[in-house]
Amino acid sequence: MERVFYVAGNWKMNLLVNEGLALSREVLQGWNEMERKVRLLFFTPYPHLAAVAALTEGVVEVGAQDCSAQPHGGAFTGEVSSHMVASAGASWVLVGHSERRQYHGEEGALLVQKMQRAVEAGLRVIYCCGEPLIVREKGDEAAVEYVLNQLQLLRGENKEPLVKVGQLLVAYEPIWAIGTGRTATPEQAGAMCEAIDGWCQREFGVFRYDIPVLYGGSCNAKNAGALFAQPAISGGLIGGASLRAADFLSIAQEAQKTVKSELA
Ligand code: PGA
Repeated sequence: MERVFYVAGNWKMNLLVNEGLALSREVLQGWNEMERKVRLLFFTPYPHLAAVAALTEGVVEVGAQDCSAQPHGGAFTGEVSSHMVASAGASWVLVGHSERRQYHGEEGALLVQKMQRAVEAGLRVIYCCGEPLIVREKGDEAAVEYVLNQLQLLRGENKEPLVKVGQLLVAYEPIWAIGTGRTATPEQAGAMCEAIDGWCQREFGVFRYDIPVLYGGSCNAKNAGALFAQPAISGGLIGGASLRAADFLSIAQEAQKTVKSELA
């Protein structure tokens, strides 16, 4: 499979709808001027999805930051189904982000159900994983063990991944690096993404890059180049820096440079 780079913005609970549209317009303007060798994704809050998807169609792919574990239709006040997300023009969903795990107790069977709902609605999934500081402090081996254990949820039937190859990405986001300004070193991030890629190859009999692995956690315009130069890192999931068009575009440009140097 040809290697593709992804630069995905996770807006979290930021921006009003008009602000999200303004940011999208700015990114579109900057991006159209550049060669497109990298895929851009916006993970917006639910109320923004339809408008941002319509505005950015053909240039940026849009996704939701979560979806309900319940099938579409029914008395689940406040829930948003995967089919609703898809009907808004979105094609992606994040599952297992550490903030969902931490603040909403999401884990195990619930995350599996969310991925099943995503598949039913034809959404592609970025499955997020990453260790807390207390685990990282025990050493690299403990961190790898923790993260590979989180990947167990990706196991479907007959050694197939729960979400088909081509529809699934993994984002490695060490919890101690999210929103803290403390980034994993390129070597730390690269080694973990290598371990994730290796695990996918062994478990599912896939090839390198069939399930692309992104890095997330205080990724910015300054450190993106070094992170993307790590062979197992196929892009980034960007929180804070995705809220400023110039920063997000700089990160996307770093990804383009990496693609170009690989092609050269
Ligand atoms: P950050 O967030 O870039 O602000 O650290 C990344 C994420 O949580 O996806």
